[in-house]
Amino acid sequence: MTYTIAQAEQELQAKCEKLNLRWYPRYHLAARAGWINDPNGLIWFDGWYHAFYQHHPYSTQWGPMHWGHARSKDLLHWEHLPVALAPEGPEDKDGCFSGSAVIDGDTLALIYTGHKFRGDVSDDENLYQVQCLATSRDGVHFTRQGMVIDTPADLHHFRDPKVWREGDNWYMVVGARVGDTGQIRLYRSADLRQWQDEGILDEAEAGMGFMWECPDLFSLNGKRVLMFSPQGIAAQGFENRNLFQSGYLVGDWQPGEPFVRAGEFVEMDHGHDFYAPQSFLTPDGRRIVIGWLNMWESPMPEQQDGWCGMLSLPRELTLNENNHLQMRPAKEVEALRQAWLPWPASSLKNQQTLMANKAEAMEVVLHWDCTSSDAEQYGLSLGEGLRVYVDTQMQRLVLERRYPQYGLCGTRSVPLVPGAPLALRLFIDSSSIEVFVNDGEACLSSRIYPDADRRQLSLFAWHGTAILSEAGAWQLE
Ligand code: FRU
Repeated sequence: MTYTIAQAEQELQAKCEKLNLRWYPRYHLAARAGWINDPNGLIWFDGWYHAFYQHHPYSTQWGPMHWGHARSKDLLHWEHLPVALAPEGPEDKDGCFSGSAVIDGDTLALIYTGHKFRGDVSDDENLYQVQCLATSRDGVHFTRQGMVIDTPADLHHFRDPKVWREGDNWYMVVGARVGDTGQIRLYRSADLRQWQDEGILDEAEAGMGFMWECPDLFSLNGKRVLMFSPQGIAAQGFENRNLFQSGYLVGDWQPGEPFVRAGEFVEMDHGHDFYAPQSFLTPDGRRIVIGWLNMWESPMPEQQDGWCGMLSLPRELTLNENNHLQMRPAKEVEALRQAWLPWPASSLKNQQTLMANKAEAMEVVLHWDCTSSDAEQYGLSLGEGLRVYVDTQMQRLVLERRYPQYGLCGTRSVPLVPGAPLALRLFIDSSSIEVFVNDGEACLSSRIYPDADRRQLSLFAWHGTAILSEAGAWQLE
């Protein structure tokens, strides 16, 4: 089969009329129809934020990758634009894989991975991944410029270029797999077309993964943050529970010099569903990250509804003095706030109380006084399927989802800070929850699948008393 943008558009027009919207996000970006995975090419260009994404318009499963495209003034209200890239080949005949965008003069340039097999597609030995360029003046229609970096000898997995400007040069990080070792390769260019191999920027030590996907290198607070999505790190205790991780290393780097780590790999989000994050700068200099709010090989019940996958809220990144990356909802999110539903400071004892009849698009604020609370479990529930609660015996904040009908049950959690209160901002959308803990300290993001009539929001405290020092909720637009 050959693919074109026109054909993808036709398919999407037909498909988007047949969606079941029960779980379709109210304030997050999802595809018009079909499948979506990684965010790509996030950038501010010509007065708009642009978000591209890995997209399969022809089904709700992953397939030959296209680049979907949307733009927004505020990172929350998105306008869908025509598909930007289709795997028209020959350099990308089996998929336009992940990549990034930069502005070169008056041109918006997309740098992405061309994915192609020579022969049997089930054999990795036949796989070639090359880096490609496409350019646009209007930010909507793109001209393919073809391959700019060929697959290095002996490599097959070589993808997800992230490009940025530094001094007089463009730099690119690319994820790679060498045997069973994940790597990040570095390249340099003066013109986005001719690229100089600058070697290996960093690579996995034993146990740190066979492939490092979606690398991103940026500066924060005088340091460099190397963010990437490693495949093949084993779960250990409460850590690295998802099939694949996304996280970061903090270090130092200057052009021409090696990357020197200043710490260990840290997971970025502790929920069930956050992967392949990509960062970009706002015109006022904030570093924002958006991730894919799903996990590979996890059940995705919205597939029966004609669409699949969504992107996370935009989150501002900062780096604190302990080199810890903090994520907070981008300030734009506050503009979604409508009616405030106040809730009194109160204590709960062996009870569950209803806070709202239907939580669909909502930001909930909860401050728990953990030192004065002795309940064994206390927190918030949404219908019967979701609880976000403090487990006093474990001394952890737990996100528990229970949708056995969809094969999705289990918990994710983060440790409590001993002796400290717990401030939570919880963002509920039709089929997602994002929990921001203690103003940037931790984040848990998971997909949830409540029935439309089972979205009651309740507070509870079992086996003891819990003290709520501040609470309320915003209806979101
Ligand atoms: C990450 C990823 C990338 C790749 C893309 C393919 O989720 O596997 O490495 O470019 O998805 O859709």
